[in-house]
Amino acid sequence: MPPAGTILVTGGAGYIGSHAVLALRDAGHGVVVIDDLSFGHARAVPADVPLVRGDIADTVLVAQVLADHRITTIMHFAGSILVPESVANPLKYYRNNVVASNTLLQAAADHGVARFIFSSSAAVYGVPDRLPVTEDAPLLPINPYGRSKLMTEMMLRDVAAATGMKFANLRYFNVAGADPAGRAGPDRAIPTHLIEVAMDAVRGRRDGIIVAGNDYPTADGTCIRDYVHVSDLADAHVAVLNAMIAAPGASLTLNCGYGHGFSVLQVLDAVDHVLGRHLARSFGPRRAGDPAALVGSNDAIRSALNWQPRHDDLDTIIAHAIAWAQSLDQ
Ligand code: UFG
Repeated sequence: MPPAGTILVTGGAGYIGSHAVLALRDAGHGVVVIDDLSFGHARAVPADVPLVRGDIADTVLVAQVLADHRITTIMHFAGSILVPESVANPLKYYRNNVVASNTLLQAAADHGVARFIFSSSAAVYGVPDRLPVTEDAPLLPINPYGRSKLMTEMMLRDVAAATGMKFANLRYFNVAGADPAGRAGPDRAIPTHLIEVAMDAVRGRRDGIIVAGNDYPTADGTCIRDYVHVSDLADAHVAVLNAMIAAPGASLTLNCGYGHGFSVLQVLDAVDHVLGRHLARSFGPRRAGDPAALVGSNDAIRSALNWQPRHDDLDTIIAHAIAWAQSLDQ
């Protein structure tokens, strides 16, 4: 297989990006990270990986990095990620996710970048008619976050048609867990994702978990999501890179999920079970922008990339999350 050259990872100091950096490095790829450290941490980037602190919308800086490191592939993780915040502050999401991606794409096109691998989201589907949802389902996002991801997918398709660039849209479902070797994990000052919120309770940083709505049309009334181990997701990025190098004519749009879901209460029960003690929980109102159930078919990614998840087990995801959370206080 021809060498991939150095990979530019935007948002490589963040949660998912830092796991992708580890997976790329473990697979022998050269990596450079650009991150504004607004949420990411410099300590999340291995010491032998160059970290450029800056904004992906800084055209001069990005052009310099692309030239200095002779970048032929970009993995684009940087962006804003919270559904409720996107409902309250949509322009932030159109700026950080759409405008910034537009600027990055312009720099990539000007530089002749061959491959652009994008962190898209299950949120592009909105409320799917059928679960598990397949990639050809209607794209009808129900919140600004999902719309911002869909707009970037559209830009990518149009840029690819107009230039030689190939793209991969990886539509993530609910990413959770931490590196099994304890090298990386989620590290937000104020977590909002369910398992991270539970970890805050594990660490004694909050009294318990508020379940956001128990009147959804699901078996126990709470929302169902497809929780994917972050290291399996990172492996999918390496696999898609390898597939794009092996078949340079191809662009891909693939779900990254396990194909089965758990309700909020099932997740919290699993946390109690793995932890060996009960975390307090209470019921609150629904959160804005939440679909009742979102589960992704992974038939396409399994056949296109031969992706074989290693951690498709909720207890394992939670055990790794707990180990990481506890390490933060040591
Ligand atoms: N939840 C709670 N209490 C909390 C936090 C979350 O009940 O304290 C619930 C949410 O209401 C939701 C579920 O747990 O039902 C999962 O919520 P997360 O915040 O962990 O994740 P989201 O489902 O909002 O976000 C994920 C991905 C996005 C994707 C989105 C689609 O992170 O990339 O699903 O809705 F776009």
